[in-house]
Amino acid sequence: MKPFRAAALQTSPRFGEVENNLEAALAALPADCDLVVLPELFNTGYQFTSRDELQQLAEPIPDGPTSRRLLAEATARGIHLVAGLAENDGAGLFNTCLLARPDGSWERYRKIHLFWEEKDIFDPGDLGFSVVPACGTEIGLMICFDWIQPEAARTLALAGATVLCHPSNLVLPHCPNAL
Ligand code: ACM
Repeated sequence: MKPFRAAALQTSPRFGEVENNLEAALAALPADCDLVVLPELFNTGYQFTSRDELQQLAEPIPDGPTSRRLLAEATARGIHLVAGLAENDGAGLFNTCLLARPDGSWERYRKIHLFWEEKDIFDPGDLGFSVVPACGTEIGLMICFDWIQPEAARTLALAGATVLCHPSNLVLPHCPNAL
């Protein structure tokens, strides 16, 4: 594996202000990075209070405006972007992360271990854990509360991941130590 530069970008989304949140995050992307990880639900904000609210804000992937913008930015900058967003695939509503590659290709992971009231609002991920090629290595995707089950990271490692990308909106304090 060749060395590459990765960054985790902390943002402060305002709930529901998707376009502003998206543009603010892109404007804050660090220079000279090969991979940048944005937070869980970075474009909508985290604190959904109902499934109706989620229905209003969730977007298709990759044809929704947020995915299209992330894919275009990854291509324009020649970088990889990993970002959490609310997904509407027509049948379900998921807490998803998108990995956008500079060549325009993409991957997705849908959060399996939903936290607390997320269980009343989102559908649980139905695609399993994803290990995907990026930055010359194998990257494992997981989202926030997945950390609570060591089997999530272990599954990704056993599937060949050398790096975990873990968009989060942490509520409990234990995740950094646990990981
Ligand atoms: C969480 O999964 N956002 C706590």
